[in-house]
Amino acid sequence: MSMEKIVSLCKQCGFLFQSSEIYGGLQGFWDYGPLGVELKRNVKESWWKDMVVCHDDMSTLDGAPSPYAMEGLDCTIIMHPQVWKCSGHYDLFHDYMVDCKETKKRYRHDQLNGRWVEAKNQRVFITAAAGDDEVELIEKRAMKFFKIRAKNIEDIKYDGDPICLTEIENLAEVLGPDAKAVGTLTEPREFNLMFKTYVGALSGEEGTAFLRPETAQGIFVNFKNVLDSTRQKLPLGIAQIGKSFRNEITPRNFTFRSREFEQMEIEFFCHPDESQKWYQFWRDRRMAWYHEMGIPEDRLILREHTPDELAHYSIGTADLEYAFPFMAEGEFGELEGISHRGDFDLRSHIEGKLDEKSNPLELQLDENGKPKWKGSGKNLGYRDELTGEKYIPHVIEPSAGADRATLAFLCEAYTEDEQPDENGKMQKRVVMKFHPRLAPIKAAVFPLVKKDGMPEVAKKVYLDLKKQFKVFYDEKGAIGRRYRRQDEAGTPYCITVDGQTLEDQTVTIRDRDTLEQQRVKIDELRDIIQRRIDG
Ligand code: GAP
Repeated sequence: MSMEKIVSLCKQCGFLFQSSEIYGGLQGFWDYGPLGVELKRNVKESWWKDMVVCHDDMSTLDGAPSPYAMEGLDCTIIMHPQVWKCSGHYDLFHDYMVDCKETKKRYRHDQLNGRWVEAKNQRVFITAAAGDDEVELIEKRAMKFFKIRAKNIEDIKYDGDPICLTEIENLAEVLGPDAKAVGTLTEPREFNLMFKTYVGALSGEEGTAFLRPETAQGIFVNFKNVLDSTRQKLPLGIAQIGKSFRNEITPRNFTFRSREFEQMEIEFFCHPDESQKWYQFWRDRRMAWYHEMGIPEDRLILREHTPDELAHYSIGTADLEYAFPFMAEGEFGELEGISHRGDFDLRSHIEGKLDEKSNPLELQLDENGKPKWKGSGKNLGYRDELTGEKYIPHVIEPSAGADRATLAFLCEAYTEDEQPDENGKMQKRVVMKFHPRLAPIKAAVFPLVKKDGMPEVAKKVYLDLKKQFKVFYDEKGAIGRRYRRQDEAGTPYCITVDGQTLEDQTVTIRDRDTLEQQRVKIDELRDIIQRRIDG
């Protein structure tokens, strides 16, 4: 399945549009159209329902009822700048970039791969953007650069396989991905990914604030508020869905890497001794969720980060990766990260409250040998009421991207098949096989013909179903065309009012995937659809 087809269907059917398209678009920003907004809402609502509201419906790994609490939050996008200093984002949240002096293009240092190529007594490191078919592209670029024809291709010698640009010391020998001359790339420079803005009338450093690059920090700084207001005990997960912003150097692959995106994050606070167990639990639970939502096992993998890949806060991270169609054969792209953050964040905010007069908040033993918080930092520690034990909780963080998940569901749903039309002739059909819970429209209602009282009955059915589901009414054109439009939108059920309806108050319900038509009573429609959606 090709990414071009999916991108084109997204625009044509109203799933996704380029932001500010009439002005030429803005790289890294995307708008959700009428179908896209419903799809993404369903992704977020399914996540919230399964992870937060109904978390205790399922059993834990040892079979006992869920022994943890879940609460939700909705924090602001702009927070006190100190949050980002303490979290490490101000100093550490950057990528290295290289600029091309010839083309004025900018690249992420770690996203350029290349190969040493030798011909006509010159040795050059020829690059290609990572993810492209590097070997083929580098060969084409080498022929062009050395002005060598296909029949003399043997004159080009390669030294080793493609490697990342980060491994090359002397950029003077590098041919940039879009350059004609060698040595046009600048030395790598740090580039902080946070968007800056100014709060109030102050435009200098004093008024500087940042758009949040992750929703997580809003949860950490509210940890105590949530505990105090809910009286929950650990283990406790706090969930948030919201926008995050990163000034990505090379946004690409449709919505996969955007500059404005939404995250669905849980910060799960637990006792340090139990953190490994919960780390394992969340990796399994999140993997199972994607399977429940229709991603098959062979297209989703769990990949453990190597120590040099770990973010500054992480003791261990595993990524759930999906076989996006824009990845090379056999490669996967990150859908979600599950990190063991230890006590990094709570400790950073505890210590970060310090000013010159303050002392760090720390656990000390009092005169009776009992642990006691001492110092003037913010107390984000936890006291177990049953045992009296005081500690800084460890955090397991399943952090998913709502846009990446939506993109994965779009890619997974895209299917082409052939079905007979009204005259029995085989016709190509594009069908979006979304899980019914995710489908933007749950059911479409059609009168078979626009006469004999059928539209009136169909509209009544539509108005009744609308109270419970997102439904669509259509009376225009041939019934086969109406079905096909709903197949492209991914609508799982099409309901048709026909001659028999007028006699016995029954309608047909057509299944998008099996194409089976079942005759059911109008009175039972709502229940039938709900049962099918719930599976
Ligand atoms: N709080 C941890 C955190 O933010 P992350 O791995 O940087 O970790 C988590 O981001 C998830 O957010 C990713 O797995 C991805 O789904 C999504 N995400 C991150 N950057 C993104 C971007 N530029 N565009 C779209 N989604 C992004």
